[in-house]
Amino acid sequence: MALVNENYLNLSDNYLFSKIASEKKKYIEKNKDKKLIDLSIGDVTLPLCPASIEGIKKAANLLSKKDTFEGYPPSSGHNFLKEEILKYDYSPLNINLENNEIFIGDSSKSDIAHILDLFDTGITVAIQNPVYPVYLDSNVIRGNNIIFFNDASEILDISKHIDIIYLCSPNNPTGQIIPKDRLKEIINYAIKHKSLIFFDSAYEAFIQGIDTVHSIYEIADAKKVAIEFRSFSKTAGFTPIRLSYTIIPNDIYLFSKSSNKVSLNSLFKRLKDTKYNGPSFLSEYAMYNVYSTNSLYQLKENIDYYMKNVKLLINFFNSKNIIGTTKINSPYVWIKCKDNMSSWDFFYYMLDNFMILGTPGSGFGTEGEGYFRLTGFGTREDTLEAIERMKNIL
Ligand code: MLT
Repeated sequence: MALVNENYLNLSDNYLFSKIASEKKKYIEKNKDKKLIDLSIGDVTLPLCPASIEGIKKAANLLSKKDTFEGYPPSSGHNFLKEEILKYDYSPLNINLENNEIFIGDSSKSDIAHILDLFDTGITVAIQNPVYPVYLDSNVIRGNNIIFFNDASEILDISKHIDIIYLCSPNNPTGQIIPKDRLKEIINYAIKHKSLIFFDSAYEAFIQGIDTVHSIYEIADAKKVAIEFRSFSKTAGFTPIRLSYTIIPNDIYLFSKSSNKVSLNSLFKRLKDTKYNGPSFLSEYAMYNVYSTNSLYQLKENIDYYMKNVKLLINFFNSKNIIGTTKINSPYVWIKCKDNMSSWDFFYYMLDNFMILGTPGSGFGTEGEGYFRLTGFGTREDTLEAIERMKNIL
């Protein structure tokens, strides 16, 4: 008889975005004559930029010829892309990294979840509330102990030993950034208490202010305790073709029960070698072409377009005195639900009254209850129409 991993039974019934997708399907089936506007999951709507399309074509051309064809990529990605990442994402921030510290993969989500294989079960982690649900779910699956914090400053007061501190800055869903001085304090705390930091900077390209960092390695000593996750899904619009990378500095160690030091970087390489066959060559080449032809401006144009949507939504909610996002540092708008409705009640209120699909804040954690998230990744037309439809919201 095959026994189940009981921890899976402790997960909520559905992954947040699957539940929303199934509500969407139900609604569309019942309301074939109505035009639903989907501003729920953070999924891009603009086509891939010309330089990445050109990159895919170049890759296809290379794969079409016997002398340039390549089979499996290295499990942590090709050096040609790592060189560009170092040159364009880290050198301008005065950060030096080795090629082997970069692991190119298909998605931050899978790296964030799978890296926990390398840690003992039953470790203690600190997770922000509200936040991207994958941190919580992947720790529930491992049977880990979870401590929640609301504001990053609360970490400094936790007296219990924490093995991993999850930071998401800008935060998904609230858009909150962690200021530089706070990050420095958390790094010092992690060094002192022998904790590791998992820094998710999937939304760094959307930061508009200067009081925070794009990479945690901008802060002194971060390489001693922090790993960083970056995704091309939102920054390059790669949700359909998949590409991401994770930085694991060579100086980070785990300890065996007999107190031997084990390099996290080497272990992660072992994990990648065992469980992955590397990122898609087409996706890697798409991004390589964006960097190497100086076309990052094309990505910036798309990001600006989405941020204009965010600004339109925020201005609208402000005009209605609806409390929500004030500083704009992420592609999401986070608002307080009308009349103290619960997040799911508001979800159905928006669906039934305005045919607008959003994300219930409670899906990001208990502290998100009573809040609602809309994405700026919709089309401009849909965003403007959503605003028009919501004019009678109060
Ligand atoms: C979100 O909408 O929060 C994210 O796009 C979902 C994801 O990245 O998995």
